[in-house]
Amino acid sequence: MASTATINEVSISYDDAGKGIPLMLIHGFPLDRRVWAEQIQPLSKVERVIVPDLRGFGGSRSDASFTLRTLAEDICGLAQHLGLDRFVLAGISMGGYVALEFAKKYPAMLKGLIFIDTKAEADTSEGKAGRDKMIALVREKGSTAVAEQMMPKMLAPARIQRDDAVAQRLRSIIHECPPTTIATALAAMRDRPDHTADLPSIPVPTLIIVGDQDAIIPVSTAEAMNRAIPRSQLVVIKDAGHMPQMEQPDLVNQAITGFLRSLAGSH
Ligand code: MLT
Repeated sequence: MASTATINEVSISYDDAGKGIPLMLIHGFPLDRRVWAEQIQPLSKVERVIVPDLRGFGGSRSDASFTLRTLAEDICGLAQHLGLDRFVLAGISMGGYVALEFAKKYPAMLKGLIFIDTKAEADTSEGKAGRDKMIALVREKGSTAVAEQMMPKMLAPARIQRDDAVAQRLRSIIHECPPTTIATALAAMRDRPDHTADLPSIPVPTLIIVGDQDAIIPVSTAEAMNRAIPRSQLVVIKDAGHMPQMEQPDLVNQAITGFLRSLAGSH
């Protein structure tokens, strides 16, 4: 069911469906909660699924500035608003950066973590320069120019070539992302801290998922994350790029369901 709640003075839109272990799904950049469309229905048959639009994105319209820490505080505020006890937090890419911030600040609120096509490292100096270039691009040419630049890397190459329904859906989500939000998120990612040293102290079971053809986060990065987090497991999704939950939803849902089942009896 779609709802809104005022969290840290911003109206946050979210879906909340099902009963059971609460699972919060956080989208990536420059997207919104529609990237989880194939997860909500099947996963909410087994557990409770909560899917917010981060501030500035999708239905959570806001020009208020933010860092990744602010976004983690919003997730905390939403969890408190919903009266969640311990929950499972899943983030894809930028959503994973938010989940890492959250895990550092609020570990006691977590029952488990799911990192999808994401990493703990901060931007390199080359990466930071790329963020600045994209900030200039979005200010000058808007969200469609950002979509043009990002789309070739977002999905498995064969799908990009076919430009199928998934590719078209993803592109239109980027087109709809407000340029101000894109610029703010780019600066937030550019300035994010490195969380590599925090991985060994992640206290909860963790599932790591990565597409075998991800052009942004290589499988080797996910493998390194898996080695660094004590209670983690890695699932590599075949024939998927940076958005495996849209590209191979059944495989991703299977991995998530198995992980949630393994948590059911754990404390
Ligand atoms: C994302 O998918 O959220 C972004 O590609 C993350 C990033 O640019 O670092």
